[in-house]
Amino acid sequence: MNSNQPTPERIMQLATGYWATGILGAAASHSLFTHLEAGAGTADKLAAQAGISERGAQTLLDGLVSLGLVELRDGNYRNTAEAATFLVEGQPACLSSFAEFKLAEMSKLVALPDVVRTGGPVTDATVEVADNPHWQKVVQAIAAQSVPVAMIAADILRLAEAEEISILDIGGGSGIYSAIWLGLNPAARSTQLDWGPVNAMARRLVAQRGVADRFTCIDGDFHTTDFGTAAYDIAVYSHIAHQEGPEDNIAIFVKVRGALKPGGALVINDYIVDDDRSGPPFPLIFASEMLLKSKRGGTWRRADYHAWLAEAGFEHVSFHPTPSPATLVFAR
Ligand SMILES: C[S@@+](CC[C@H](N)C(=O)[O-])C[C@H]1O[C@@H](n2cnc3c(N)ncnc32)[C@H](O)[C@@H]1O
Repeated sequence: MNSNQPTPERIMQLATGYWATGILGAAASHSLFTHLEAGAGTADKLAAQAGISERGAQTLLDGLVSLGLVELRDGNYRNTAEAATFLVEGQPACLSSFAEFKLAEMSKLVALPDVVRTGGPVTDATVEVADNPHWQKVVQAIAAQSVPVAMIAADILRLAEAEEISILDIGGGSGIYSAIWLGLNPAARSTQLDWGPVNAMARRLVAQRGVADRFTCIDGDFHTTDFGTAAYDIAVYSHIAHQEGPEDNIAIFVKVRGALKPGGALVINDYIVDDDRSGPPFPLIFASEMLLKSKRGGTWRRADYHAWLAEAGFEHVSFHPTPSPATLVFAR
């Protein structure tokens, strides 16, 4: 038999991909990886620790072995290195709340055939809605992904050595950039512009990190709020460009240019598509999320960022990969 013959295996896996989302999200919601790490290595022990049924625990364990997140040795289950690093609660890069969030979001996907036909969201619960409670869940779920990115950006910008810098975080969400950057530089100050309920969450995180005295919030819509003039050394626009259409991104970049001091830098973090649309995989597929949930969003190409930033008056633009699916862009 010709080994190059296509097999149905991958398509079966793709069509049943929601099983993986379900198993991972359910395991995360019952802290299974955390209990496994603490030594609960059998279904009965895990069931007792997590307060779930033994039948349910065994089913999740079987699924997690199938997904390669848990190993079985001599009748005992344990996390793989990947699960131990990214799914045990309390680790800075823990993706458990992201996995839970994605499972909760899954039912929205059934609208995708209609959304593709109409070319946009078929409900009113879009990202454009002011104070949308959706954000409070999103920002907590994605904060861990920004931790390594914020560290890399701080390194490139030499933030720790910079002196009394001021930072504007547009749609700062959880406040993770401010929490990390103010921690690295005791003379820095940061302002976050976001919806009121989200800013309240950010204030809590920043206070937990002991840097609340240098953190200010502006409650409001970043489309209509004035950013000020020559007021900031650094502006952050992380995971925002994909929810906006080209015109709004350009309008915001123009406001940012005016709000930055001479020599100041705009830091963008987003899922960026190659100019010929051949990759990378995550940014390509993420566009479907924006089709489902936003009126004009999408995942944009490097060439789009170049053109928009040039139009807004930025002269130097550079792109840097990160360990997350997102790319960092620096514009001055
Ligand atoms: C995907 S989250 C990104 C959060 C954060 N920048 C990060 O990378 O982790 C989008 C953020 O933008 C905020 N946001 C969305 N539209 C907004 C608007 N029109 N005005 C102000 N904030 C907005 C949301 O509340 C949310 O905090």
